[in-house]
Amino acid sequence: MATATKETILTEGLKAFIEEWKDRPGNLIMILHKVQEEYRYVPREIAFEVAHILDIPLAKIYGVVTFYHFFKLEKPGDHNLQVCMGTACYLKGASDLISELENLLDIGVGGTTPDGKFSIEAVRCVGCCGLAPVLMVGDEVYGKLTTEMLPEVLAHYND
Ligand code: FES
Repeated sequence: MATATKETILTEGLKAFIEEWKDRPGNLIMILHKVQEEYRYVPREIAFEVAHILDIPLAKIYGVVTFYHFFKLEKPGDHNLQVCMGTACYLKGASDLISELENLLDIGVGGTTPDGKFSIEAVRCVGCCGLAPVLMVGDEVYGKLTTEMLPEVLAHYND
């Protein structure tokens, strides 16, 4: 039998939030935002619980989660490498950064390393085009990046 992990349990805080939003318009998006804030993605077991509490089909939740790119169905790595693919970054070689990260980590975009440490995500303009091409890791912004600089950036998180 599978043991309950943190992901499979609806926290008291979330339960209270869902109760509060249960009958309000637009509640599903708000609740899913809160779920992702808590777990960094939308775990399947939690999606199931939410469907149950709101008395809606699970398919409706997956419809919303897959429609909005913001929501994630897979757990991201401890360090989610967000490569900006906005126009300025794209023109300055963001796709080379992605290819090099894929090489270095041996995973694809949307993937997570087996040890759960890193994941790669392609994102829209993060608002610092003057620094293109840009990589964000949490709150850290790495600008004017070259592929040669990437091993050093990764080493920073390899403790
Ligand atoms: S296009 Fe990358 S920060 Fe704007």
